[in-house]
Amino acid sequence: MEAEKARPPNPPSAWLNVQDEHDRILGLLTELCSSYARIGEVGPGPSEPDHALASKLGALWGLLVVHFSGEEGEHGLYSDIRGALPHRAHRIALLQKEHCEILEEVRSLVSDVPHLAEAAERPRLLGRAKALFYRIRAHETKENELIHESVRSEPMGGGD
Ligand SMILES: [Fe+2]
Repeated sequence: MEAEKARPPNPPSAWLNVQDEHDRILGLLTELCSSYARIGEVGPGPSEPDHALASKLGALWGLLVVHFSGEEGEHGLYSDIRGALPHRAHRIALLQKEHCEILEEVRSLVSDVPHLAEAAERPRLLGRAKALFYRIRAHETKENELIHESVRSEPMGGGD
């Protein structure tokens, strides 16, 4: 473990590609909200079976698990931000807590997919999907801001 601590941190510029993952996650969430809205209008008929929606939620879950564990990992974004911006450690702790809450909400949406068959439930589920979109967007924006702050604190000539 001591050898791990001696590892130099990734240069902040290395974290700019995390923002590409954020764009992919938000793109998938936009598709999900459209699917919920479509089902809300016409119901989960044969042309838009709820399996397709469940499959998109599964893809989102997989993307988030990989993305979050990469950020939280020993050599991940959060570790390096804590090193580069120690005064932001409390923000990282809050973001990490939010990862658990976001995954719990996705899990809950997956388990509620069968309720799309009930017309009265659809507006509520669409509302939750939209709320998840806005929550994740706000979460990733906060991370992007920390990445930019970290890049700005990088010594001149540190990039390639
Ligand atoms: Fe992120």
